[in-house]
Amino acid sequence: MAFATRPFVRAASSAAATAAAKKLIVKHVTVIGGGLMGAGIAQVAAASGHTVVLVDQSDEILKKSAKGIEESLKRVTKKKFADKPEAGAEFMEKTLKNLTTSTDAVAVVHSTDLVIEAIVENQELKNELFKRLDKFAPEHTIFASNTSSLQITQLANSTTRQDRFGGLHFFNPVPMMKLVEVIKTPMTSQKTFESLVDFSKALGKSPVSCKDTPGFIVNRLLVPYMMEAVRLFERGDASKEDIDVAMKLGAGYPMGPFELLDYVGLDTSKYIIDGWHSLEPNNPLFAPSPLLDKLVEEKKLGKKTGEGFYKYK
Ligand code: NAI
Repeated sequence: MAFATRPFVRAASSAAATAAAKKLIVKHVTVIGGGLMGAGIAQVAAASGHTVVLVDQSDEILKKSAKGIEESLKRVTKKKFADKPEAGAEFMEKTLKNLTTSTDAVAVVHSTDLVIEAIVENQELKNELFKRLDKFAPEHTIFASNTSSLQITQLANSTTRQDRFGGLHFFNPVPMMKLVEVIKTPMTSQKTFESLVDFSKALGKSPVSCKDTPGFIVNRLLVPYMMEAVRLFERGDASKEDIDVAMKLGAGYPMGPFELLDYVGLDTSKYIIDGWHSLEPNNPLFAPSPLLDKLVEEKKLGKKTGEGFYKYK
């Protein structure tokens, strides 16, 4: 008897395992947050044939997002279809047709395969959003966050779908930057992870994978590098101008660390380093900088305010 049932049990459980392991092919995407990143993500998802709903807090914000997407799409189309204006017009029309907007996240997640959250970098707001949407999204729906500095695991824990939760970290500007970091927490299922990798590829991006560790790959290397440049300058070892020239001409970087800090925003950089410092207070790579703190206090936040390490007026 044991011999007769064992193969059957094995076959049944392996069929179940195959069904469970089947990857989700994402067709419908909901992007929450129509700012810099969310608008870019919605654009590339729509341009690659997905049905996309972009959600934000007001129609006024969404109008601005839609205008930005249309302008960006025009630039992409001009470049991509330089010699084929008719194909370009068709691409624009199809992409815009794939894209709608809404202020009601709860209503739109009813029929979505993937929710990508790109709202402000605030743990409580993100947790509250995911907790709410978890109640209304279908069982199969995967949740992903585009956070740069918060722990994906903590966001996943605000839902009951920790196995269907991961990180999808895009780079600015989304339509231009090829990289997506796909973040796997200890609870993310292999099926979810592979679905997110496939989705990133479907967008024409190059995904890399990383565990849920502060800064993932790019920021984990980039932020301590920029902070070390600030410390070098703070100690008076070299001028900021010379440090920038050195890294451009000596390391082949397109921007120096101070130019990059001003571009990213000093408040954003301070927010990230302060968060990591509170997680690992003894890690010297994550030590705060008195100079950076002072500039942020003086509202010298970089290019966006006209002054950071450099003046832009
Ligand atoms: P942003 O400030 O340009 O846009 C955020 C948008 O979210 C705003 O339009 C706001 O109205 C909306 N929003 C806030 N709460 C909302 C809610 N409850 N429901 C719906 N919409 C809501 O921010 P940005 O730069 O696009 O960043 C978004 C996320 O992407 C953040 O988590 C950030 O860390 C991450 N990120 C940012 C990058 C950058 O270079 N700016 C790069 C990679 C990731």
